[in-house]
Amino acid sequence: MPHYRSVGEVPRKRHVQFRRPDGGLYAEELMGEEGFSSDASLLYHRYAPTAITKAEAVDAFKSALEPNLPLSPRHFRTQDLAPDGDLVSGRRLLAGNGDVRIGYAASDRASELYRDSMGDECVYIKSGRARFESMYGAMEVGEGDYVVIPTGTIHRWVPSGPVEALTIEASGHIRPPKRYLSQFGQFLEHAPYSERDLRGPSEPLIVEGEDVPVLVRTRGGLTRLTYRNHPFDVVGWDGCLYPYVFNISDFEPIVKRTHAPPPVHQTFEGPGFVICSFCPRPLDFHPDAVPIPYNHHNVDSDEFMFYVGGDYSARAGSGIDVGSVSLHPAGFTHGPQPGAVEAVIASGATQTTELAVMIDTFRPLDLGPGALACEDGDYAWTWAR
Ligand SMILES: [Fe+2]
Repeated sequence: MPHYRSVGEVPRKRHVQFRRPDGGLYAEELMGEEGFSSDASLLYHRYAPTAITKAEAVDAFKSALEPNLPLSPRHFRTQDLAPDGDLVSGRRLLAGNGDVRIGYAASDRASELYRDSMGDECVYIKSGRARFESMYGAMEVGEGDYVVIPTGTIHRWVPSGPVEALTIEASGHIRPPKRYLSQFGQFLEHAPYSERDLRGPSEPLIVEGEDVPVLVRTRGGLTRLTYRNHPFDVVGWDGCLYPYVFNISDFEPIVKRTHAPPPVHQTFEGPGFVICSFCPRPLDFHPDAVPIPYNHHNVDSDEFMFYVGGDYSARAGSGIDVGSVSLHPAGFTHGPQPGAVEAVIASGATQTTELAVMIDTFRPLDLGPGALACEDGDYAWTWAR
């Protein structure tokens, strides 16, 4: 996150004495990416952020992946998955590879404190509202929000009712595409969103407590660390590294007279994948335009599409609906369902209401138990009907 932010109380210069009202020193912590050679923030704690009293291995949440064999396009219906656990423990693994794991979670329960130390997370809120609490402060989040959480951020989710979310767990950092940014990180005029569309924590969040468990995810598995004091003890922080929110309705679609390919929808990128937003927009407006996608084969990518709202003309007759996920893997050409092109042209439609989140991965996606539990097994044959 390349934009400087300062919240709460910080000393005038970094790394100088900064004292509590009782005269003791606040504990300064530098959280930095890429060996402290990229974005970083300095946080000022009331208590030592190093003081832990217990470490326990956690066996839960292990989820096996299996290859997409025989190779085929897939349709998963997350709308058929029952709520489970919380927005961390209840994640149903849909698909994943060595770069990214994609899950679906539905819950109205508060999660425990959680730190993903394998990579950034991007949580897309499909429905409902929640308070996202973190060591950087809290943010109210709701439908259509992408919540981008930097690696190592201790946080928890507190829903205010039922919440459905798509969880994207990266193996590195999730950022806006480089081509949207100036060499120093400002959003350029051609970018489909800008700094004003992003929200970050605006005030410190202080919670008192002792012997507080934090679930930590690392490459080796899950550990529950017990902190002597509650980790939400930061009186101030500043820097360019912090969780932030971008709402999909603030994505300004880029349209052409004839059909534009998926890169115009790109919203974020991570190691080995991109995240795209398909938003309501004018349909292609050349007088002879074919206003839905051509058949296409993204030869280097698997295409994971989560349908979150609106109407999908190109998918009519496939069984896909709001809540569905389609997985169109490399090795398979996909496109509109039979009759969809003619139907859209005949309708004279000038707008599309589709709303979808797409994750294209550059390595094949394996299938998770969450996906296999809600698969529509007939999808692969729907183009041949
Ligand atoms: Fe596609």
